[in-house]
Amino acid sequence: MLNSTTYKFYVNGEWKESQTGQTIEIKSPYLHETIGKVQAITKEEVDNAISSAQEAQKQWADIPLQQRASYLYKWAEELVNMQYEIAEIIMKEVGKSFKDAKNEVIRTADFIRYTVEEALHMHGQSMKGDSFPGGSKSKIAIIERVPLGVVLAIPPFNYPVNLAAAKLAPALISGNAVIFKPATQGAISGIKMIEAFHKAGFPKGLINVVTGRGSVIGDYLVEHKGIDMISFTGGTNTGTHLAKKAGMIPLVLELGGKDPAIVREDADLENAVQQIVSGAFSYSGQRCTAIKRILVNENVADEMIGLLKAEIEKLTVGSPAEDNTIVPLIDDSSADFVQSLIDDAIEKGATVVTGNKREQNLIYPTLLDQVTEDMRIAWEEPFGPALPVIRVSSDEEAIHIANASEFGLQASIFTKDINKAFSIANKLETGSVQINGKTERGPDHFPFIGIKGSGMGAQGIHKSIESMTREKVTVLNLTD
Ligand code: G3P
Repeated sequence: MLNSTTYKFYVNGEWKESQTGQTIEIKSPYLHETIGKVQAITKEEVDNAISSAQEAQKQWADIPLQQRASYLYKWAEELVNMQYEIAEIIMKEVGKSFKDAKNEVIRTADFIRYTVEEALHMHGQSMKGDSFPGGSKSKIAIIERVPLGVVLAIPPFNYPVNLAAAKLAPALISGNAVIFKPATQGAISGIKMIEAFHKAGFPKGLINVVTGRGSVIGDYLVEHKGIDMISFTGGTNTGTHLAKKAGMIPLVLELGGKDPAIVREDADLENAVQQIVSGAFSYSGQRCTAIKRILVNENVADEMIGLLKAEIEKLTVGSPAEDNTIVPLIDDSSADFVQSLIDDAIEKGATVVTGNKREQNLIYPTLLDQVTEDMRIAWEEPFGPALPVIRVSSDEEAIHIANASEFGLQASIFTKDINKAFSIANKLETGSVQINGKTERGPDHFPFIGIKGSGMGAQGIHKSIESMTREKVTVLNLTD
């Protein structure tokens, strides 16, 4: 047995054990052993966390922005100091390679610093009354952004630190307080990130970490009257349920995806293959922005399949502790789901170009050719290393299949004809389109948007600050 520590939850600047005395075991997806336990807290403990946040937020919103900035810079510094310790936890908890886990921590420190800089240069505006017919010169509107209050931040397992801070940092710099509910598998990584936050010396109650069973506190958190905004990243089914439960408060939801790579006949196939293999198989494809299907022109499909096979078979497979790209999936049920999509495709006539090999929750990178629209993998999100190839006869067919998806996160187009690229991009129903590049969220100051089943609202540093604030208008009526 690994040294399995019991971690506390964090309320009002203090680490606490739940009154229930109950904990949730966190099992490593590749060590297959318990690496720690987190508290299963009660609704009453949630109430206390939210009350602490509400109290702390009032003072926090009043202190000068530069002073708020100094705390966040210190947090970034503490994260860098703890990067190896946190990276090791991320690796053990969610099975991410140590290299990728360490990069995630550094990316998070960069994210926090950039968020501060962005906020320091976001200013309001003023308007004069007389620019409207009959309006008076003596009326001046002053428009500024104010915090929403208490933000509920719910990140996913696959970026337990970066996608958490991507919600926490914009919330804090804008003058909000936060209830941070980490994904259970990822909670220890989130708690370690908050240890760095605690070391930065923030006022008490600004971030409160609540861990527990979704069945006990999940809906309770979302429906709680003390929550003024929710930022969620995770599966589409969970996001849809959350949206139905939340009250009249602003929501930002970043959900699932089925990002297509459209490969035109004139594409630079070498570049396309490099980008697609990286985009589809990094961290075993456990990314919402992963490339999850290829729509390739039938005239170049055979050549592309050959190049893809060679590139995929170079991917390293095994333990994240040896910096492999293909690592065990987050749990057995996820691996079962991916395997079911592969099996369904084969039963319906798909060809296995490479892969379709499984060892417990490790699935070897799998490329399926001759995939047709009656196969589940053409439409469902594997969140694993299984990539279907659908052969198309025209751009129009590719656009049709791309837009027929319930998802609308990103898409890639590979072509040498930039006019065609923009013409196709303009027709795609997605948040973003990558031309001659893989689908991905970064760099983190770019807007990051999902539509349809891929979410609502926008992230990306500037957009996240906007989504966690609202405009307030003060009208000055000058007297002569
Ligand atoms: O899966 C979450 C999504 O944010 C992925 O981010 O940076 O791997 O494209 P990234």
